[in-house]
Amino acid sequence: MIDRRALIAAALAAPPLALAGRAAAAPVTLSKPCVISTWDFGVAANQAAWAVLSKGGSALDAVEAGARVPEADLKNHSVGRAGYPDRDGHVTLDASIMDAAGNCGAVAGLEHIAHPISVARRVMERTPHVLLVGDGALQFALEQGFPREDLLTPESRQAWQDWLKTAKYKPAANSEVDTYGKGAGGAANHDTIGMLALDAKGDLAGACTTSGMAWKLRGRVGDSPIVGAGLYVDGAVGAATSTGVGEEVIRNVGSFLVVELMRQGRSPQEACEAAVARILARKPETKDLQVGFLALNTKGEVGAWSIQRGFSYAMADVGKQDRLLPGGSVY
Ligand code: GLY
Repeated sequence: MIDRRALIAAALAAPPLALAGRAAAAPVTLSKPCVISTWDFGVAANQAAWAVLSKGGSALDAVEAGARVPEADLKNHSVGRAGYPDRDGHVTLDASIMDAAGNCGAVAGLEHIAHPISVARRVMERTPHVLLVGDGALQFALEQGFPREDLLTPESRQAWQDWLKTAKYKPAANSEVDTYGKGAGGAANHDTIGMLALDAKGDLAGACTTSGMAWKLRGRVGDSPIVGAGLYVDGAVGAATSTGVGEEVIRNVGSFLVVELMRQGRSPQEACEAAVARILARKPETKDLQVGFLALNTKGEVGAWSIQRGFSYAMADVGKQDRLLPGGSVY
C-alpha cells in the first residue's frame, strides 16, 4: 500500500526553493522497458501499461492501455467518463497520443465517448489528420464504432449544480488529488493524466487525456490535445507531458520546450525545471497556479517538476510497478 500522506508530508517538509540558481535534482533512472505517469492515479494506469510492456509490447500500446484506466475510473473527476463538465453541464474530453516516429493523433471537445485516447489513436492511424474537434470528432468516433454514452454521472451533475450556486471560476492547484474519489461538491477543477513509456525495443510513446478544467467555458480546449503543448515525443531524444493549467502550457509550448531542452543536452529533470522557470519568468502571476512537467529520455532518465508543491508522479519498471513520488517544485 502506498503511504501517500508520508510522501506528501516529506515533500511539504522541504523548504520553499528559490527559483534562480537551484541545482537540478539527481535524476531517477529506470530500466527499459518502463512507464511514468502524472499524479497518484498514474499508479493504476502504469500497471495496465506495464502488463503490455512486460510482455514485449510496444510503448504505443502501453500508453493507450494505461490511459484507458483513469478514463474508465468513476472516482476520477478530471479524466474520462466521470470528468467534471463545463459550466453548461457538458462533459467534453481532450486527448492526444504520439509515437517515436512523430506520428500523432488527438481529439478535443469530444462528447459522449468514454475513451478519447483510443479515438485519438484512430485519428493518428486511420486519417490523414492530427486533430479532430467537437462534433466532427464525435462523428468520427461513432463511425469507428465507439459507443455513444451519457458521460455526466450523478456525482458530476451534483458537483456542477453545487458549483452553479457561486459560479466562480478559479483553477485550484493539485485538484487531481483533491477531487479523486470525492462525490458532489469537489472543490475544483482540472486535470490530466500524462503517460510516457519506453519499450523493450527502445521506442518511446506518450499519451495525455483529460476532461479539462471543470466549469470551463463551452468550447475551451486545454493543452492536453495540443501536440507540443500537453505532449511531445521525439524518438531520438525523449518525451514530455504536462499537467495543470493548460493555458500556461500552450503559451509556452511546454512539452516541446522540454524535449528541445533535452535535445540540447539537458537531463529530463533540468529540462522540466527550465520549462517551469520559463513559464514563471514570462508571466510571474503564474506562481499562484499549478503547472507540472514529466519527462523521460531514451536512457530511461526521469524528470518531474512543477510550480506548486503537491504534484506527484508514478513509475514502473522491472524493479517495481507501483512507485509514487512527490515531484519537486518551485514553491
Ligand atoms: N492540463 C489540462 C487542461 O488544462 O485542460
